[in-house]
Amino acid sequence: MILRIDTEAALVEVEDLHGTRSLPFSNPEAFALVSKAWLRVGWDVKYVYRFTWLGRPIIQLPEDIVRLQEIVYRTQPDVIVETGVAHGGSLVLYASVCEAMGHGKVVGVDIEIRPHNREAIESHPLFPRITLIEGSSTDEDTFARVRKVIGNAERVLVVLDSNHAKEHVLAELRLYSSLVSVGSYIAVEDGIMPEFAGAPRSAPDWNWNNPRSAVEEFLAERDDFVIEIPVPVFNEGAADADITYSPGGWLRRVR
Ligand SMILES: C[S@@+](CC[C@H](N)C(=O)[O-])C[C@H]1O[C@@H](n2cnc3c(N)ncnc32)[C@H](O)[C@@H]1O
Repeated sequence: MILRIDTEAALVEVEDLHGTRSLPFSNPEAFALVSKAWLRVGWDVKYVYRFTWLGRPIIQLPEDIVRLQEIVYRTQPDVIVETGVAHGGSLVLYASVCEAMGHGKVVGVDIEIRPHNREAIESHPLFPRITLIEGSSTDEDTFARVRKVIGNAERVLVVLDSNHAKEHVLAELRLYSSLVSVGSYIAVEDGIMPEFAGAPRSAPDWNWNNPRSAVEEFLAERDDFVIEIPVPVFNEGAADADITYSPGGWLRRVR
């Protein structure tokens, strides 16, 4: 597909197998197509590596940060478990929403929490709401430590953002799904990988070896989770495209 953006005429020209057509900027499809291209351009320039949340680097698309915040506020979890800590920005994000709600704690799991990151997270004003667990997310011992921190908490939200290989995410889904309460979600991050196959810093197997393939296999095994893209609670605009790194990545527990 070829997109030509005419900023003078406010038109997007689309050339694909069906021919060529012109869409005004006001057409939601024009917004969706330009956004898709923008996501890929953003990947190439490492756009998501330039944000912090309350002082800690957060490796997330800002659009995804807003949606995560909406879900945390809507579901009011007792505990949010995230695999994949890195610099801790996403843990601080969840902890900040918990702090504002006056409720909830956060558990972060990472195979390697580097000393400078650990020190910065542990000295953060929101650390009282955060527990760090070092270990591979799929190790039995790591999972047992997560369970222990959760205790008898009823509402649990899980975010999977560690190793994005299909088998690892599938193993995480099988393990961590047991923690999720009915009505709550597992957010499976970075399902966009197949769309970036062939891009810089991608691998040739990204078209199948990705979190989306893991979700497909997981959903084929059971019927207690469904893909449910959170409907924006506020939308007075015309845009209907989800601008996200995690398409199809919201799994809601329905029974
Ligand atoms: C994409 S980063 C996480 C970004 C973070 N959630 C954020 O939003 O800022 C992925 C992290 O997963 C961790 N990781 C890789 N393999 C893992 C595993 N088997 N278990 C737990 N964490 C793992 C890496 O060490 C890295 O810190």
